[in-house]
Amino acid sequence: MKVLAFETSCDETSTAVVEAGTVLANVVASQTALHREYGGVVPELAVREHLRCLPWLAREALRQAGLGAADLDAVAATRGPGLPGALLVGLKAGQGLAWALGRPFLAVHHHEAHLVSPWITGDPPRAAWECFRPNLSLVVSGGHTLLVHVVDLLRHRLVGQTLDDAAGECFDKVAKLLGLPYPGGPVVDRLAAEGNPRAHAFPRPKLADADDEFSFSGLKTAVRYFLRDHPGLAEDGQGIRDLCASAQAAIIEVLVTKTMRAARRLGVGCVTASGGVTCNSGLRLALAKACSDAGIELRLAAPAFCTDNAGMVGVLAECKLSRGVGPSDPDEEPAPGWELTDLTASA
Ligand code: KG4
Ligand code: ZN
Repeated sequence: MKVLAFETSCDETSTAVVEAGTVLANVVASQTALHREYGGVVPELAVREHLRCLPWLAREALRQAGLGAADLDAVAATRGPGLPGALLVGLKAGQGLAWALGRPFLAVHHHEAHLVSPWITGDPPRAAWECFRPNLSLVVSGGHTLLVHVVDLLRHRLVGQTLDDAAGECFDKVAKLLGLPYPGGPVVDRLAAEGNPRAHAFPRPKLADADDEFSFSGLKTAVRYFLRDHPGLAEDGQGIRDLCASAQAAIIEVLVTKTMRAARRLGVGCVTASGGVTCNSGLRLALAKACSDAGIELRLAAPAFCTDNAGMVGVLAECKLSRGVGPSDPDEEPAPGWELTDLTASA
């Protein structure tokens, strides 16, 4: 089954073509340069950029896959969660194209798509479903921080999530306080590599709590007060590197400790991770060590499938359609606040 997929939930416009679990094309136009001067995503600009880019990105994905629109068997797009206007662009374009081609359309939950990305490996990238096993999945990005128990390929249960800021948002806000460019995560990651993670003891919010919820807004506030009490630190190169390393160490310790605790409690033999923050080199190393110590298999999404991409949307859509799930109502509206739990209840 050949599926064309669209992803426009936030600030990446992406299109992909998937067939038999193989990602034949996965094209991403990132808007970070556009939003950088505002220090964060400006929804109105994001929507306009999605509208401007989606048509040629769709043609480009088909060109790279060596297919024409008439060859497609289905179309899929992210329906939520995300920015309302941004979701509207990809969803309505997908529904319109499916209608014009007389093909089924499937609306995809963005977080459910993240759950499949750790299984997409190799060149060309393909979903290694033959390796699939029940797992605990950490989905960690600028918009979300979730722990999901993936019981079966299409059956999962939300275990915990952040009560306030997402981990990536915390990286971005710490970077902003230091006057570093948006998005802050990759910059903090790079500077942290040359800093001392034990230079400052920042709080580890909810580390000691037995629940599976996260909270990162207090950490950002702690960094803000620290900078207020240490004026001049943001001017000093090594000071900035030590601060980045210390803040990153706090975020990583919370993410890894709580993930491993939940994995042990649930008795899963596999931990997976995806989302933009999974690109973080310190997090990748820390998860690898923790899983190896615990004798648990670790599958980290490849960097191209960590950040938002239509490849994961297409892989999930094909997986669902080929198993008889869907198609969706062709007139559905975007679901900006769509909870993964709603999906689990209706699955
Ligand atoms: O998944 P993504 O592209 O978009 C969503 O938010 O859904 O994730 C973007 C987030 C940003 O907050 C960015 O700072 C963070 O992922 N990020 C990183 C790294 N690369 C991206 N955070 C820490 N270290 C990185 N290397
Ligand atoms: Zn995402």
